[in-house]
Amino acid sequence: QLRDNTVIVVFGASGDLAKKKTYPALFGLYCNGYLPRDVHIVGYARTKMDDKEYQKRTTAYIKNPNDDPEIAAKIEEFKKISTYVSGGYEDSPSFQNLAKHLQSIEKNYPSREANRLFYLALPPSVFVPVATHTKECCYSSMGINRIIVEKPFGKDLDSCRELLSSLKQSWKEEETYRIDHYLGKEMVKNLLVLRFANVALGAAAWDKNSISNVQISFKEPFGTQGRGGYFDEFGIIRDVLQNHLLQVLSILTMERPVSFSSEDIRDEKVKVLRAIPPITKEDVLLGQYVAGNNEPGYLDDDTVPKDSVCPTFAATVLRINNERWEGVPFILKAGKALNEAKVEIRMQFKDVTQGIFKNISRNELVIRIQPSEAVYLKLNSKTPGYSFRAFPTEMDLTYKRRFTDTKIPEAYEALILDALKGDHSNFVRDDELDVAWKIFTPILHWIDGRAGPRPRPSPYPYGSRGPKELDSFIEKQGLVNKDAL
Ligand code: BG6
Repeated sequence: QLRDNTVIVVFGASGDLAKKKTYPALFGLYCNGYLPRDVHIVGYARTKMDDKEYQKRTTAYIKNPNDDPEIAAKIEEFKKISTYVSGGYEDSPSFQNLAKHLQSIEKNYPSREANRLFYLALPPSVFVPVATHTKECCYSSMGINRIIVEKPFGKDLDSCRELLSSLKQSWKEEETYRIDHYLGKEMVKNLLVLRFANVALGAAAWDKNSISNVQISFKEPFGTQGRGGYFDEFGIIRDVLQNHLLQVLSILTMERPVSFSSEDIRDEKVKVLRAIPPITKEDVLLGQYVAGNNEPGYLDDDTVPKDSVCPTFAATVLRINNERWEGVPFILKAGKALNEAKVEIRMQFKDVTQGIFKNISRNELVIRIQPSEAVYLKLNSKTPGYSFRAFPTEMDLTYKRRFTDTKIPEAYEALILDALKGDHSNFVRDDELDVAWKIFTPILHWIDGRAGPRPRPSPYPYGSRGPKELDSFIEKQGLVNKDAL
Protein backbone atom coordinates (compact mmCIF):
# COMPACT_ATOMS: atom_id res chain seq x y z
CA GLN A 1 0.00 0.00 0.00
CA LEU A 2 1.15 3.54 -0.71
CA ARG A 3 1.48 5.61 2.46
CA ASP A 4 0.30 9.20 2.42
CA ASN A 5 2.57 11.77 4.04
CA THR A 6 5.79 10.49 2.51
CA VAL A 7 8.98 12.40 1.86
CA ILE A 8 11.41 10.94 -0.67
CA VAL A 9 14.98 12.02 -0.05
CA VAL A 10 17.38 11.66 -2.98
CA PHE A 11 21.02 11.64 -1.88
CA GLY A 12 23.41 12.45 -4.70
CA ALA A 13 20.75 14.71 -6.23
CA SER A 14 23.23 16.56 -8.42
CA GLY A 15 24.82 13.37 -9.81
CA ASP A 16 24.34 11.56 -13.08
CA LEU A 17 22.19 8.71 -11.85
CA ALA A 18 19.76 11.06 -10.13
CA LYS A 19 19.46 13.33 -13.14
CA LYS A 20 19.19 10.62 -15.76
CA LYS A 21 17.22 7.93 -13.96
CA THR A 22 15.87 8.79 -10.50
CA TYR A 23 14.21 12.12 -11.26
CA PRO A 24 12.71 11.14 -14.61
CA ALA A 25 11.31 8.03 -12.86
CA LEU A 26 9.90 10.06 -9.98
CA PHE A 27 8.35 12.44 -12.46
CA GLY A 28 6.89 9.55 -14.49
CA LEU A 29 5.22 8.24 -11.35
CA TYR A 30 4.04 11.69 -10.33
CA CYS A 31 2.61 12.43 -13.76
CA ASN A 32 0.60 9.20 -13.76
CA GLY A 33 -0.67 9.71 -10.23
CA TYR A 34 1.37 6.91 -8.68
CA LEU A 35 3.17 8.85 -5.96
CA PRO A 36 1.54 9.04 -2.53
CA ARG A 37 -0.77 11.95 -1.69
CA ASP A 38 1.11 14.94 -0.23
CA VAL A 39 4.45 13.54 -1.40
CA HIS A 40 7.55 15.74 -1.20
CA ILE A 41 10.90 15.19 -2.82
CA VAL A 42 14.01 16.49 -1.14
CA GLY A 43 17.28 16.49 -3.05
CA TYR A 44 20.51 16.37 -1.08
CA ALA A 45 24.09 16.74 -2.33
CA ARG A 46 27.33 18.59 -1.62
CA THR A 47 26.86 21.14 -4.40
CA LYS A 48 25.58 24.47 -3.13
CA MET A 49 22.54 25.70 -5.03
CA ASP A 50 19.11 27.13 -4.33
CA ASP A 51 15.79 25.37 -4.89
CA LYS A 52 15.31 27.06 -8.29
CA GLU A 53 18.64 25.92 -9.66
CA TYR A 54 18.03 22.42 -8.29
CA GLN A 55 14.59 22.23 -9.86
CA LYS A 56 16.03 23.33 -13.18
CA ARG A 57 18.74 20.69 -13.07
CA THR A 58 16.57 17.81 -12.01
CA THR A 59 13.89 18.46 -14.59
CA ALA A 60 16.42 18.89 -17.42
CA TYR A 61 16.27 15.18 -18.31
CA ILE A 62 12.51 14.92 -18.21
CA LYS A 63 11.29 14.45 -21.73
CA ASN A 64 8.52 16.47 -23.30
CA PRO A 65 9.41 16.12 -26.98
CA ASN A 66 6.21 17.59 -28.41
CA ASP A 67 5.95 20.42 -25.87
CA ASP A 68 2.71 18.95 -24.60
CA PRO A 69 1.17 21.70 -22.40
CA GLU A 70 -0.24 19.13 -19.96
CA ILE A 71 3.20 17.63 -19.36
CA ALA A 72 4.69 21.12 -19.11
CA ALA A 73 2.10 21.96 -16.42
CA LYS A 74 2.94 18.74 -14.56
CA ILE A 75 6.63 19.64 -14.64
CA GLU A 76 5.80 22.97 -12.99
CA GLU A 77 3.73 21.19 -10.31
CA PHE A 78 6.54 18.68 -9.80
CA LYS A 79 8.99 21.51 -9.21
CA LYS A 80 6.75 22.82 -6.44
CA ILE A 81 7.04 19.62 -4.44
CA SER A 82 10.83 19.50 -4.87
CA THR A 83 13.23 21.22 -2.50
CA TYR A 84 16.95 20.99 -1.93
CA VAL A 85 19.38 20.80 0.98
CA SER A 86 23.13 20.91 0.53
CA GLY A 87 25.50 19.21 2.92
CA GLY A 88 28.34 16.78 3.37
CA TYR A 89 28.06 13.01 3.43
CA GLU A 90 30.23 12.30 6.40
CA ASP A 91 29.28 14.73 9.18
CA SER A 92 26.34 14.65 11.58
CA PRO A 93 25.53 18.40 11.54
CA SER A 94 24.71 18.22 7.82
CA PHE A 95 22.24 15.43 8.49
CA GLN A 96 20.74 17.27 11.45
CA ASN A 97 20.16 20.14 9.10
CA LEU A 98 18.43 17.78 6.68
CA ALA A 99 16.29 16.44 9.54
CA LYS A 100 15.12 19.97 10.33
CA HIS A 101 14.16 20.49 6.72
CA LEU A 102 12.16 17.25 6.73
CA GLN A 103 10.34 18.29 9.90
CA SER A 104 9.47 21.65 8.39
CA ILE A 105 7.75 19.82 5.52
CA GLU A 106 6.06 17.25 7.71
CA LYS A 107 4.57 19.75 10.13
CA ASN A 108 2.15 20.70 7.37
CA TYR A 109 0.90 17.15 6.95
CA PRO A 110 -2.76 16.62 7.83
CA SER A 111 -1.94 13.81 10.28
CA ARG A 112 1.04 13.15 12.51
CA GLU A 113 2.15 10.23 10.33
CA ALA A 114 5.48 10.89 8.57
CA ASN A 115 7.04 8.29 6.27
CA ARG A 116 10.46 8.60 4.71
CA LEU A 117 12.07 6.90 1.73
CA PHE A 118 15.80 7.51 1.36
CA TYR A 119 17.30 6.91 -2.07
CA LEU A 120 21.10 6.64 -2.21
CA ALA A 121 22.13 7.63 -5.74
CA LEU A 122 25.72 7.77 -4.54
CA PRO A 123 29.20 6.38 -5.12
CA PRO A 124 29.93 3.33 -2.94
CA SER A 125 32.58 5.18 -0.92
CA VAL A 126 29.85 7.06 0.96
CA PHE A 127 27.15 4.36 1.25
CA VAL A 128 28.02 3.52 4.83
CA PRO A 129 28.43 7.03 6.30
CA VAL A 130 25.24 8.23 4.60
CA ALA A 131 23.25 5.20 5.74
CA THR A 132 24.58 5.56 9.27
CA HIS A 133 23.98 9.31 9.62
CA THR A 134 20.55 8.99 8.04
CA LYS A 135 19.57 6.40 10.61
CA GLU A 136 20.97 8.48 13.46
CA CYS A 137 19.62 11.88 12.48
CA CYS A 138 16.81 11.47 9.95
CA TYR A 139 14.93 8.33 10.98
CA SER A 140 11.24 9.07 11.40
CA SER A 141 9.69 7.92 14.64
CA MET A 142 6.22 8.63 13.25
CA GLY A 143 6.04 6.26 10.31
CA ILE A 144 7.81 3.89 7.99
CA ASN A 145 11.44 4.34 6.94
CA ARG A 146 12.95 2.68 3.89
CA ILE A 147 16.31 2.96 2.19
CA ILE A 148 17.12 2.23 -1.46
CA VAL A 149 20.71 1.42 -2.37
CA GLU A 150 22.26 0.90 -5.78
CA LYS A 151 25.08 -1.33 -6.93
CA PRO A 152 28.04 -1.77 -6.75
CA PHE A 153 27.62 -3.91 -3.65
CA GLY A 154 31.32 -4.48 -3.12
CA LYS A 155 33.88 -5.81 -5.54
CA ASP A 156 34.03 -9.43 -4.47
CA LEU A 157 32.61 -11.76 -1.87
CA ASP A 158 34.55 -10.38 1.09
CA SER A 159 34.03 -6.70 0.33
CA CYS A 160 30.32 -7.30 -0.29
CA ARG A 161 29.94 -9.07 3.04
CA GLU A 162 31.77 -6.23 4.77
CA LEU A 163 29.57 -3.60 3.13
CA LEU A 164 26.38 -5.46 3.93
CA SER A 165 27.29 -5.98 7.54
CA SER A 166 28.17 -2.25 7.93
CA LEU A 167 24.84 -1.24 6.43
CA LYS A 168 23.00 -3.73 8.61
CA GLN A 169 24.24 -2.02 11.73
CA SER A 170 21.82 0.78 10.99
CA TRP A 171 19.20 -0.61 8.58
CA LYS A 172 17.22 -3.83 8.89
CA GLU A 173 16.86 -6.16 5.90
CA GLU A 174 13.12 -5.41 5.65
CA GLU A 175 13.85 -1.67 5.46
CA THR A 176 16.51 -2.11 2.77
CA TYR A 177 15.79 -2.15 -0.97
CA ARG A 178 18.81 -3.10 -3.09
CA ILE A 179 18.18 -2.10 -6.67
CA ASP A 180 19.17 -4.13 -9.67
CA HIS A 181 17.24 -2.15 -12.23
CA TYR A 182 17.01 -5.13 -14.61
CA LEU A 183 14.46 -6.59 -12.20
CA GLY A 184 12.22 -3.62 -12.98
CA LYS A 185 12.23 -4.23 -16.74
CA GLU A 186 8.92 -5.32 -18.18
CA MET A 187 10.25 -8.39 -19.99
CA VAL A 188 12.19 -9.59 -16.97
CA LYS A 189 9.02 -9.35 -14.91
CA ASN A 190 7.20 -11.21 -17.64
CA LEU A 191 9.46 -14.24 -17.17
CA LEU A 192 7.43 -15.41 -14.19
CA VAL A 193 4.24 -15.38 -16.24
CA LEU A 194 5.77 -16.89 -19.38
CA ARG A 195 7.21 -19.73 -17.36
CA PHE A 196 4.62 -20.46 -14.75
CA ALA A 197 1.38 -19.62 -16.55
CA ASN A 198 2.17 -21.77 -19.60
CA VAL A 199 2.51 -25.51 -19.67
CA ALA A 200 3.89 -25.44 -23.22
CA LEU A 201 6.75 -23.13 -22.33
CA GLY A 202 7.31 -23.69 -18.66
CA ALA A 203 6.39 -27.04 -17.25
CA ALA A 204 6.74 -29.20 -20.37
CA ALA A 205 9.87 -28.06 -22.12
CA TRP A 206 11.92 -26.07 -19.65
CA ASP A 207 14.78 -28.44 -18.90
CA LYS A 208 17.78 -30.37 -20.16
CA ASN A 209 15.59 -32.81 -22.08
CA SER A 210 14.35 -30.11 -24.44
CA ILE A 211 16.82 -27.24 -24.23
CA SER A 212 20.21 -27.45 -25.91
CA ASN A 213 21.65 -24.15 -24.68
CA VAL A 214 20.71 -20.72 -23.44
CA GLN A 215 22.30 -17.41 -24.33
CA ILE A 216 21.74 -14.21 -22.41
CA SER A 217 23.31 -11.25 -24.20
CA PHE A 218 23.77 -7.61 -23.39
CA LYS A 219 25.04 -5.41 -26.20
CA GLU A 220 25.56 -1.67 -26.04
CA PRO A 221 26.59 0.37 -29.07
CA PHE A 222 28.49 2.98 -27.03
CA GLY A 223 31.64 3.01 -24.93
CA THR A 224 32.24 4.28 -21.42
CA GLN A 225 30.97 7.78 -22.25
CA GLY A 226 33.01 9.68 -19.69
CA ARG A 227 32.42 7.04 -17.00
CA GLY A 228 35.83 5.50 -17.67
CA GLY A 229 37.11 6.29 -14.18
CA TYR A 230 34.33 4.29 -12.52
CA PHE A 231 34.31 1.60 -15.18
CA ASP A 232 38.01 0.90 -15.05
CA GLU A 233 37.75 0.03 -11.38
CA PHE A 234 34.93 -2.45 -12.01
CA GLY A 235 34.99 -3.84 -15.57
CA ILE A 236 32.14 -5.37 -17.53
CA ILE A 237 31.71 -8.46 -15.33
CA ARG A 238 31.01 -6.42 -12.20
CA ASP A 239 29.12 -3.76 -14.15
CA VAL A 240 26.62 -5.98 -15.95
CA LEU A 241 27.24 -9.73 -15.85
CA GLN A 242 27.45 -10.56 -12.18
CA ASN A 243 24.30 -8.59 -11.40
CA HIS A 244 21.93 -7.83 -14.29
CA LEU A 245 22.51 -10.95 -16.37
CA LEU A 246 22.79 -13.28 -13.41
CA GLN A 247 19.48 -11.97 -12.06
CA VAL A 248 17.85 -12.73 -15.40
CA LEU A 249 19.41 -16.19 -15.38
CA SER A 250 18.16 -16.96 -11.90
CA ILE A 251 14.53 -16.13 -12.73
CA LEU A 252 14.80 -18.04 -15.98
CA THR A 253 16.06 -21.21 -14.33
CA MET A 254 14.66 -21.29 -10.78
CA GLU A 255 12.02 -23.81 -9.72
CA ARG A 256 8.42 -22.73 -9.39
CA PRO A 257 8.09 -20.72 -6.17
CA VAL A 258 5.53 -21.81 -3.58
CA SER A 259 3.86 -18.41 -4.04
CA PHE A 260 4.68 -15.10 -5.65
CA SER A 261 5.61 -13.57 -2.31
CA SER A 262 8.97 -11.83 -2.31
CA GLU A 263 10.52 -14.34 0.08
CA ASP A 264 9.33 -17.39 -1.84
CA ILE A 265 10.62 -16.01 -5.14
CA ARG A 266 13.97 -15.07 -3.69
CA ASP A 267 14.34 -18.42 -1.92
CA GLU A 268 14.10 -20.16 -5.29
CA LYS A 269 16.54 -17.75 -6.92
CA VAL A 270 19.11 -18.40 -4.23
CA LYS A 271 18.63 -22.15 -4.54
CA VAL A 272 19.38 -22.22 -8.24
CA LEU A 273 22.36 -19.89 -7.92
CA ARG A 274 23.80 -22.19 -5.29
CA ALA A 275 23.87 -24.97 -7.90
CA ILE A 276 26.22 -22.97 -10.16
CA PRO A 277 29.91 -23.70 -9.58
CA PRO A 278 32.40 -20.82 -9.70
CA ILE A 279 33.53 -19.87 -13.20
CA THR A 280 36.99 -20.95 -14.25
CA LYS A 281 39.34 -19.11 -16.61
CA GLU A 282 38.74 -21.69 -19.35
CA ASP A 283 35.10 -20.62 -19.35
CA VAL A 284 35.64 -16.97 -20.09
CA LEU A 285 36.55 -14.80 -23.06
CA LEU A 286 37.58 -11.21 -22.37
CA GLY A 287 37.76 -8.26 -24.76
CA GLN A 288 38.53 -4.56 -24.80
CA TYR A 289 37.40 -2.21 -27.54
CA VAL A 290 39.88 -0.30 -29.66
CA ALA A 291 39.23 2.58 -32.06
CA GLY A 292 36.98 1.73 -35.00
CA ASN A 293 34.20 3.23 -37.13
CA ASN A 294 35.54 6.71 -36.37
CA GLU A 295 35.04 6.20 -32.65
CA PRO A 296 37.80 6.22 -30.03
CA GLY A 297 39.06 3.13 -28.25
CA TYR A 298 38.70 2.46 -24.53
CA LEU A 299 42.28 3.55 -23.83
CA ASP A 300 41.63 6.88 -25.59
CA ASP A 301 39.28 7.84 -22.74
CA ASP A 302 41.23 10.37 -20.65
CA THR A 303 39.86 8.95 -17.42
CA VAL A 304 41.26 5.47 -18.19
CA PRO A 305 44.91 4.52 -17.43
CA LYS A 306 46.84 4.14 -20.69
CA ASP A 307 47.91 0.58 -19.89
CA SER A 308 44.52 -0.62 -18.61
CA VAL A 309 43.65 -4.27 -19.24
CA CYS A 310 40.11 -3.82 -17.93
CA PRO A 311 37.63 -5.92 -19.95
CA THR A 312 34.82 -4.05 -21.69
CA PHE A 313 33.51 -7.34 -23.12
CA ALA A 314 33.09 -10.74 -21.51
CA ALA A 315 31.51 -14.00 -22.55
CA THR A 316 31.26 -16.82 -20.09
CA VAL A 317 29.67 -20.24 -19.75
CA LEU A 318 27.79 -21.19 -16.61
CA ARG A 319 26.56 -24.64 -15.66
CA ILE A 320 23.74 -25.43 -13.29
CA ASN A 321 24.37 -28.66 -11.46
CA ASN A 322 20.86 -29.72 -10.66
CA GLU A 323 18.48 -32.27 -12.06
CA ARG A 324 16.69 -29.85 -14.35
CA TRP A 325 19.68 -28.22 -16.03
CA GLU A 326 22.64 -30.54 -15.81
CA GLY A 327 24.68 -30.40 -19.04
CA VAL A 328 23.00 -27.31 -20.52
CA PRO A 329 25.47 -24.47 -21.20
CA PHE A 330 24.29 -20.99 -20.22
CA ILE A 331 26.28 -18.44 -22.17
CA LEU A 332 26.29 -14.96 -20.69
CA LYS A 333 27.75 -12.21 -22.87
CA ALA A 334 28.05 -8.50 -22.27
CA GLY A 335 29.93 -5.82 -24.11
CA LYS A 336 30.25 -2.10 -24.60
CA ALA A 337 30.93 -0.40 -27.94
CA LEU A 338 29.43 -3.26 -29.96
CA ASN A 339 27.52 -3.20 -33.24
CA GLU A 340 24.00 -2.78 -31.81
CA ALA A 341 21.85 -2.14 -28.76
CA LYS A 342 20.23 -5.38 -27.70
CA VAL A 343 19.51 -7.35 -24.56
CA GLU A 344 17.92 -10.72 -25.09
CA ILE A 345 17.51 -14.28 -23.94
CA ARG A 346 17.74 -16.99 -26.56
CA MET A 347 16.80 -20.53 -25.60
CA GLN A 348 17.70 -23.00 -28.25
CA PHE A 349 15.84 -26.31 -28.27
CA LYS A 350 17.40 -29.63 -29.19
CA ASP A 351 17.36 -31.04 -32.71
CA VAL A 352 14.38 -33.15 -33.67
CA THR A 353 15.26 -36.77 -34.22
CA GLN A 354 16.94 -37.00 -37.61
CA GLY A 355 15.47 -39.21 -40.31
CA ILE A 356 12.34 -37.66 -41.69
CA PHE A 357 13.65 -34.11 -41.88
CA LYS A 358 17.15 -33.16 -42.85
CA ASN A 359 18.81 -29.86 -42.09
CA ILE A 360 15.91 -28.11 -40.44
CA SER A 361 16.49 -25.32 -37.94
CA ARG A 362 16.18 -25.79 -34.25
CA ASN A 363 13.28 -24.24 -32.39
CA GLU A 364 14.23 -21.16 -30.47
CA LEU A 365 12.44 -19.08 -27.92
CA VAL A 366 13.67 -15.51 -27.97
CA ILE A 367 12.77 -13.06 -25.24
CA ARG A 368 13.93 -9.61 -26.20
CA ILE A 369 14.29 -7.41 -23.14
CA GLN A 370 15.23 -4.29 -25.10
CA PRO A 371 14.91 -2.41 -27.34
CA SER A 372 11.39 -3.20 -28.55
CA GLU A 373 10.20 -5.85 -26.10
CA ALA A 374 9.21 -9.09 -27.78
CA VAL A 375 8.72 -12.80 -27.26
CA TYR A 376 8.94 -15.01 -30.30
CA LEU A 377 9.17 -18.70 -30.94
CA LYS A 378 10.97 -19.90 -34.01
CA LEU A 379 9.51 -23.06 -35.41
CA ASN A 380 9.21 -25.04 -38.61
CA SER A 381 6.06 -25.16 -40.66
CA LYS A 382 5.08 -26.74 -43.96
CA THR A 383 5.66 -24.59 -47.00
CA PRO A 384 2.12 -23.94 -48.26
CA GLY A 385 1.23 -25.53 -51.57
CA TYR A 386 2.08 -28.86 -53.16
CA SER A 387 5.52 -29.32 -51.69
CA PHE A 388 6.16 -30.95 -48.36
CA ARG A 389 9.15 -28.88 -47.41
CA ALA A 390 9.53 -27.31 -43.98
CA PHE A 391 10.35 -23.64 -43.68
CA PRO A 392 11.42 -21.72 -40.58
CA THR A 393 8.86 -19.23 -39.28
CA GLU A 394 7.98 -17.36 -36.09
CA MET A 395 5.14 -16.95 -33.64
CA ASP A 396 5.75 -13.40 -32.72
CA LEU A 397 4.56 -11.22 -29.86
CA THR A 398 6.21 -7.89 -30.47
CA TYR A 399 4.89 -5.49 -27.89
CA LYS A 400 4.76 -2.36 -29.97
CA ARG A 401 2.58 -4.10 -32.56
CA ARG A 402 0.34 -5.88 -30.05
CA PHE A 403 -0.02 -3.19 -27.36
CA THR A 404 -0.18 -0.01 -29.35
CA ASP A 405 -1.58 2.19 -26.57
CA THR A 406 0.09 0.75 -23.52
CA LYS A 407 2.86 2.69 -21.88
CA ILE A 408 5.52 0.36 -20.54
CA PRO A 409 6.94 1.83 -17.33
CA GLU A 410 10.64 2.51 -17.08
CA ALA A 411 12.47 0.05 -14.83
CA TYR A 412 13.20 2.71 -12.22
CA GLU A 413 9.57 3.81 -12.11
CA ALA A 414 8.42 0.26 -11.45
CA LEU A 415 11.02 -0.27 -8.75
CA ILE A 416 10.50 3.00 -6.90
CA LEU A 417 6.79 2.28 -6.85
CA ASP A 418 7.48 -1.20 -5.43
CA ALA A 419 9.67 0.31 -2.70
CA LEU A 420 6.98 2.86 -1.84
CA LYS A 421 4.54 -0.02 -1.49
CA GLY A 422 6.94 -2.12 0.54
CA ASP A 423 7.20 -4.93 -2.02
CA HIS A 424 10.63 -6.57 -2.00
CA SER A 425 10.06 -9.09 -4.82
CA ASN A 426 12.12 -7.19 -7.36
CA PHE A 427 14.93 -6.20 -5.04
CA VAL A 428 18.05 -8.19 -4.26
CA ARG A 429 18.22 -10.01 -0.94
CA ASP A 430 21.50 -10.25 0.99
CA ASP A 431 21.94 -14.00 0.41
CA GLU A 432 21.40 -13.57 -3.35
CA LEU A 433 24.39 -11.26 -3.41
CA ASP A 434 26.44 -13.72 -1.46
CA VAL A 435 25.88 -16.58 -3.91
CA ALA A 436 26.29 -14.30 -6.93
CA TRP A 437 29.70 -13.18 -5.69
CA LYS A 438 30.74 -16.76 -4.95
CA ILE A 439 30.25 -17.64 -8.62
CA PHE A 440 32.30 -14.71 -9.91
CA THR A 441 34.91 -13.96 -7.25
CA PRO A 442 37.61 -16.46 -8.36
CA ILE A 443 37.51 -15.27 -11.96
CA LEU A 444 37.50 -11.63 -10.88
CA HIS A 445 40.54 -12.18 -8.70
CA TRP A 446 42.30 -13.77 -11.67
CA ILE A 447 41.35 -10.77 -13.86
CA ASP A 448 42.52 -8.38 -11.11
CA GLY A 449 45.93 -10.07 -11.18
CA ARG A 450 45.76 -11.61 -7.72
CA ALA A 451 46.87 -15.00 -9.01
CA GLY A 452 49.68 -13.85 -11.32
CA PRO A 453 49.89 -11.46 -14.25
CA ARG A 454 46.64 -9.89 -15.32
CA PRO A 455 45.12 -11.52 -18.42
CA ARG A 456 45.13 -9.36 -21.56
CA PRO A 457 41.71 -8.93 -23.13
CA SER A 458 41.41 -9.50 -26.89
CA PRO A 459 40.97 -6.29 -28.85
CA TYR A 460 37.80 -5.65 -30.86
CA PRO A 461 37.00 -2.58 -32.93
CA TYR A 462 34.36 -0.13 -31.66
CA GLY A 463 31.11 -1.03 -33.39
CA SER A 464 31.99 -4.68 -34.08
CA ARG A 465 30.45 -7.94 -32.79
CA GLY A 466 33.20 -8.41 -30.23
CA PRO A 467 36.57 -10.20 -30.21
CA LYS A 468 37.27 -12.45 -33.19
CA GLU A 469 37.61 -15.46 -30.87
CA LEU A 470 33.91 -15.20 -30.01
CA ASP A 471 32.71 -17.59 -32.71
CA SER A 472 35.06 -20.38 -31.73
CA PHE A 473 34.28 -19.78 -28.06
CA ILE A 474 30.57 -20.24 -28.76
CA GLU A 475 31.13 -23.16 -31.13
CA LYS A 476 32.93 -25.01 -28.37
CA GLN A 477 29.57 -25.10 -26.58
CA GLY A 478 27.93 -26.86 -29.52
CA LEU A 479 25.70 -24.07 -30.73
CA VAL A 480 24.32 -24.14 -34.21
CA ASN A 481 22.60 -20.81 -34.57
CA LYS A 482 24.79 -17.76 -34.08
CA ASP A 483 22.06 -15.16 -34.66
CA ALA A 484 22.37 -13.82 -31.15
CA LEU A 485 26.05 -12.97 -31.39
C1 BG6 B 1 24.20 -0.08 -15.51
C2 BG6 B 1 25.65 -0.15 -15.91
O1 BG6 B 1 23.99 -0.82 -14.33
O2 BG6 B 1 23.39 -0.60 -16.55
C3 BG6 B 1 25.88 0.59 -17.23
O3 BG6 B 1 26.45 0.42 -14.89
C4 BG6 B 1 24.93 0.10 -18.28
O4 BG6 B 1 27.22 0.46 -17.66
C5 BG6 B 1 23.50 0.11 -17.77
O5 BG6 B 1 25.05 0.96 -19.41
C6 BG6 B 1 22.55 -0.52 -18.76
O6 BG6 B 1 21.24 -0.27 -18.36
P1 BG6 B 1 20.07 -0.21 -19.42
O7 BG6 B 1 18.83 -0.09 -18.60
O8 BG6 B 1 20.34 0.98 -20.28
O9 BG6 B 1 20.15 -1.48 -20.18
